[in-house]
Amino acid sequence: MAKITKLDDIVSLCKRRGFIFQSSEIYGGLASCYDYGPLGSELKRNVREAWWKSMVQMRDDIVGLDSSILMHPMVWKSSGHADKFADYIVECKKCNARSRVDHLEDAPGKSSSADDLTTKVCPGCSEVGNFTEPMPFRLMFETKMGANADDTMTLFMRPETAQGIFANFKNVLDSTRVKIPFGIAQIGKSFRNEVTTKAFTFRTREFEQAELEFFCEPGTDEFWYKSWKEARFNWYINLGIKKENLRLRDHDEDELAHYAKGCVDVEYKFPFGSGDWQELEGVANRTDYDLRQHQRGMRSMSQWYEKGRDLTKVELVDEAPDYHKGPLSYFDEQQKKRYIPYVIEPSAGIDRSTLAFLVDAYDEEEVNGKTRNLLRFHPDLAPIKAAVFPLVKKDGMPEIAQNIAGSLKKHFACFYDEKGAVGRRYRRQDEAGTPFCITVDGDYKENGTVTVRHRDTMEQESVSGDQLLNYLRDKMESWNCK
Ligand code: GAP
Repeated sequence: MAKITKLDDIVSLCKRRGFIFQSSEIYGGLASCYDYGPLGSELKRNVREAWWKSMVQMRDDIVGLDSSILMHPMVWKSSGHADKFADYIVECKKCNARSRVDHLEDAPGKSSSADDLTTKVCPGCSEVGNFTEPMPFRLMFETKMGANADDTMTLFMRPETAQGIFANFKNVLDSTRVKIPFGIAQIGKSFRNEVTTKAFTFRTREFEQAELEFFCEPGTDEFWYKSWKEARFNWYINLGIKKENLRLRDHDEDELAHYAKGCVDVEYKFPFGSGDWQELEGVANRTDYDLRQHQRGMRSMSQWYEKGRDLTKVELVDEAPDYHKGPLSYFDEQQKKRYIPYVIEPSAGIDRSTLAFLVDAYDEEEVNGKTRNLLRFHPDLAPIKAAVFPLVKKDGMPEIAQNIAGSLKKHFACFYDEKGAVGRRYRRQDEAGTPFCITVDGDYKENGTVTVRHRDTMEQESVSGDQLLNYLRDKMESWNCK
């Protein structure tokens, strides 16, 4: 029977096999920042590419974007992040540790509503109910741009990639032939000075987001919301996440972000604590909020200069009465009408989904009295698709195996290994999540066949060397159909 995965097992496998390391480890590490090693960077790249393939490559109605991390400060004034993107925190009066109010847990045997702190326990020193009044804590990192005193300004590291899309809505409209409904997709780094970081790469201060802003006509938004909700759930399932570990959870009214009409989380059952459902991705109906806000921001630019480029002094002006005809509006040629589109936003975390794929793929099983650790990755995600071994280092087998590996490498990530017993080489590839191992033995010279060993079943098959590439491609492409 498959073992229940513990986060510690994943963390140790990640370090041992070069998936994920603590950032700046040689200097004692930097909290909540992580580096992806040789296998991890391939895995994460595959997650990114799988997202891009399904969201951009396979669709006629979505285009891509790669906007800059640093943006004009007014972007964050208009979007609401400069004023509202904060978590409420408290400080423990005993140990001074700061915690997010909504992350505080009740002391054992006690309970109270979320806004009554008398039963809450400090995660730093376990003191109960001894906190300061809640205060807002801004989540955006600040940095400075410019070398001269008169042109230096404070910028923010973007806390979401979405605003880069809204700021380029007009550019994309004017430079392509997109027509509503259409989407703009982007993958990139975001930064948040999170108060509580959590469980390995789950909540970090630097992370990668994969976001789609899908623009549609007001009134069709409910249809698209439902459609994206289903599509995004299925994306994880089609890449191998077990159905029992994934669910959709609609937000309650009081959970909704200031811009959202509706929001649903795709949640994964992560192995933290007793096994918690946690957000993997959010799908939100952002209405026409952002484009309207940016129109207000554009109208407020004179203040930005007049008030010495001090964002705290800028007050966004009211909307123009005919805002729906503003610079970020859309003209529907067929209906001959102009409007500000509504937006459905599926917003995923590349690091968070990489962690979910790792956790879900992890397995341990007993084989001949020994534990076999393996990662049952979908081939699209596996860092290495095939490993090629000579059975022994003689009789021309290494040369043949190297040739095979060389020709497979033109098509996908492939690894050649001739060190140690073949059983040990299989185990190493199991731990890396490699779906196929190919062994060249004496049969190759006799009849041109190699042995293909399957990671999940450990079954072995004899396959003609000439047919190997087609055979592996077929197996990978039909993976979902099993
Ligand atoms: N544009 C909407 C937006 O940013 P969000 O729910 O704050 O919404 C979307 O973030 C996704 O980004 C989350 O579901 C999660 O996967 C990822 N994410 C957010 N904060 C993160 C963090 N601190 N560390 C890792 N991933 C994070």
